[in-house]
Amino acid sequence: MNVNGARLKQELEELGLISEMAPPAVTRVLFTEVDLRGRAYVKNLCREAGLEIREDAVGNTFARWVGSEPVLPAAATGSHIDAIPNAGAYDGTVGVLGGLEAIRTLQSSGYHPRRSIELVMFTSEEPTRFGIGCLGSRLMSGVLDANAGAHLKGKDGVSLDDARRAAGFDGPLESVRLHPGAYYAFVELHIEQGPLLERGKTDVGLVTAIAAPAGFKIWIEGEGGHAGAVLMPDRRDAFLAAAEIALAVESCVKASGSIDTVGTVGVCEVFPGAVNSVPSKARLEVDVRDIDGTRRDAVLEAIYTECDAIAARRGVTLRRELVNADPPAQCDIDIVGVMQKACADQGATSQLMISRAYHDTLFMARIAPSAMLFIPCRNGVSHRPDEYSSPEAIVIGTAVLAETLAQLAR
Ligand code: GLV
Ligand code: MN
Ligand code: MN
Repeated sequence: MNVNGARLKQELEELGLISEMAPPAVTRVLFTEVDLRGRAYVKNLCREAGLEIREDAVGNTFARWVGSEPVLPAAATGSHIDAIPNAGAYDGTVGVLGGLEAIRTLQSSGYHPRRSIELVMFTSEEPTRFGIGCLGSRLMSGVLDANAGAHLKGKDGVSLDDARRAAGFDGPLESVRLHPGAYYAFVELHIEQGPLLERGKTDVGLVTAIAAPAGFKIWIEGEGGHAGAVLMPDRRDAFLAAAEIALAVESCVKASGSIDTVGTVGVCEVFPGAVNSVPSKARLEVDVRDIDGTRRDAVLEAIYTECDAIAARRGVTLRRELVNADPPAQCDIDIVGVMQKACADQGATSQLMISRAYHDTLFMARIAPSAMLFIPCRNGVSHRPDEYSSPEAIVIGTAVLAETLAQLAR
């Protein structure tokens, strides 16, 4: 496979500059001007490659290289280009621009696909704007119902329905849903976002399963007052309850006994947020994951029990909302076999691994045989501006993806 690494490197860099933050930080939040500019950049490259472009009602974008038997379900690849605040230039983008480069590599090699090969750029893999990840693929797979999706609201109070229309994506949200059989296969190329491939000096990770994420929000209400005058024994400080809850998340997660159970409190808001005011309200957002869905749910229950005990002890009230509790996904063993052989053909070393991060493949696996290819990233760093994957690593991943697509579309 003759991947044009220089072109791909340049495109990744150019897309990285389409950001709300100064380089190397990348922030591209769903349906902002920057997100739309990023999408336009990718669509233009797809057009130049002769691909047929379609967008659905939530902005999922499909770029198709039409095969010689276009009625057959296509072999698909893709990922996302949205980026959380203060992120890097490789999460998701490697799967989109690398997917495009894989197609261009096959085109210039003289290969002609029997099945169409389709590149998918998913809408909002990141939960930044509407608080839930994989919006596009959740709707595509029917895991998120169109009506519930339409009414999701972000911090600005704007609903997904209004936001997508304002961004130019009309049509019924129901039409986003794809049915099982729509794709013959789906393969996502992504940076590992962890240290194992780099540490093991392995070129490619063949993902066999994707961990199950769950998220909940919790609102805590106590009593506010003067930071000097309210006596300590009389306080019902909402933030201190939140702080204890955050520590309880850590201890419940660690008590699972498995390195695969992880938990994070990534959002903490305190009201009114003045240095001389006892917090009357607090809000946390909690993320708990495991490769074992049952074990994750047991940890969630333990956290809830602790929350109730903390609230009773501190005299605060709680309101909780489960945002998502997705089951883990298994990758398709036949596709893993195809990827394994593609690695051997391309002279790439490989190892089987699980994905601890979630990806659109978590939902694509519900409607199509699916799998993922990981490539190493520096120090395993991701969701940070210093996220980096070398051009050499990206070229190897792209070559293996191209070979895999060639086999699947034959
Ligand atoms: C995806 O970005 C995740 O949080 O796993
Ligand atoms: Mn991410
Ligand atoms: Mn990603």
